[in-house]
Amino acid sequence: MTILISGANGKVGTALTAQLKSRKLAYIALDHAQLDITNSTAIKQRLREYRPSIIINTAAFTHVDLAEQQQEKAFETNERGAELLAQTAASQQIPIIHLSTDYVFSGDKPLAESYVEGDAAEPASIYGKSKLAGEQAVRNANAHHIIIRTAWLFDEHSDNFAKKLITAAKQQLDLPSPTLRIAANQYGCPTDTSDLASAIVHLLQTYASKTTLPWGTYHYAGEPAISRLEWAQEILATAQTHGLITHQPILGPTTDSLYIGRAPRPVNSALNCTKIQQLLGIKPSQWRNRMSRLIQTMNHYENN
Ligand SMILES: NC(=O)c1ccc[n+]([C@@H]2O[C@H](COP(=O)([O-])OP(=O)(O)OC[C@H]3O[C@@H](n4cnc5c(N)ncnc54)[C@H](OP(=O)(O)O)[C@@H]3O)[C@@H](O)[C@H]2O)c1
Repeated sequence: MTILISGANGKVGTALTAQLKSRKLAYIALDHAQLDITNSTAIKQRLREYRPSIIINTAAFTHVDLAEQQQEKAFETNERGAELLAQTAASQQIPIIHLSTDYVFSGDKPLAESYVEGDAAEPASIYGKSKLAGEQAVRNANAHHIIIRTAWLFDEHSDNFAKKLITAAKQQLDLPSPTLRIAANQYGCPTDTSDLASAIVHLLQTYASKTTLPWGTYHYAGEPAISRLEWAQEILATAQTHGLITHQPILGPTTDSLYIGRAPRPVNSALNCTKIQQLLGIKPSQWRNRMSRLIQTMNHYENN
C-alpha cells in the first residue's frame, strides 16, 4: 500500500510523515511546491506518477485571521483544492482522508456540551466557512472519504500556544506587575499533533487489512475540553514546576472582539470523539500528559 500525503510540510503532514517513516510504511510526501492541490494538471500527473492506494490531504489555507481578508484564496485552497483532489482520486478509485476543523461549528452550544458529527455546522469565520465548503465538496466528489475534524493542535516542532505563552511570560516577568491577556471566551480540545498522526496511521492500517473503512465524518481531538484561559494557567504552572519560569504572570481574561481584524472564533468548539472510538477503536488523545512532556522537552533544550 502506498500512501500519498499532500501539504507534507505543514504540522500534520510533518507529524504523519515522521510516523510513517518510523513504521516503515510506503509513502510519498509532497509539499506545496511538489503538489499544488488547486492545480488539476499537477494532481493528475502526481497520481499517474505514484499510483497511490490512498491519499491524505493535510494541505490547507490555515491562517484563520488572514482568511478574513483573503477570502478567495481560502476558498480556492480549502474548497476547490480539496474538491479537485477528491474528484481526481475518485476517478481512479482512490480513497481520501481529509482534515477539517472544529471551527466549522458556531460554538453556541452550552459549555457542558460537545459537538457530535451530525450537529449542524454554522461557521462564523471565513476559514470555518471555507473548510466546511471543502468537507461538502469532498463528500460529493468521492464516496470513499474519511473526514477528520480536529482542534487546537500543538507539537514540539511548531510555534504552538504553549511556546508562545511561555516566551511571553518570560518577557513580562521583569516588569513590576507582569500580566498576560488570554481569551476567556474560547473553550475547546487541545490535541497533540503526533496523537492525531497515530490515529491516521491506525486508519491506514485498518484500510490495508480490510481494503475498506467505515467512510464518513469523524471527530478526533484531545480530552478533556478546557477554556483557553485555564489551559494557559496549566501550561504556566507546569512551566514553573519544570523551572522554565521562576514565577507566574497574572493572567487576565480578554475577548476576541477586542482585536480589530481578528476572525471570530467559536466560544465552545469542544468535539465529541465517541464515534471514532466506537467504530474504529481510536481513543481520544490525553493532552495533559503530552503537554507536560512538551514542556519538559523545552526545558531540556534550554539547558543543553
Ligand atoms: N493547526 C490546528 O490547530 C488545526 C486545528 C484544526 C484543524 N486543522 C486542520 O488540519 C489540517 C492540517 O493543518 P496544519 O496545522 O498542518 O496546517 P499547516 O501547518 O498550515 O500546513 C498546511 C500546509 O498546506 C500547504 N498548502 C497550502 N496551500 C496549499 C496548496 N494549494 N497545495 C498544497 N499545499 C498547500 C501549506 O504550504 P505553504 O505554507 O507553503 O503554503 C502547509 O505546508 C488542515 O486541514 C487544518 O484545517 C488544524
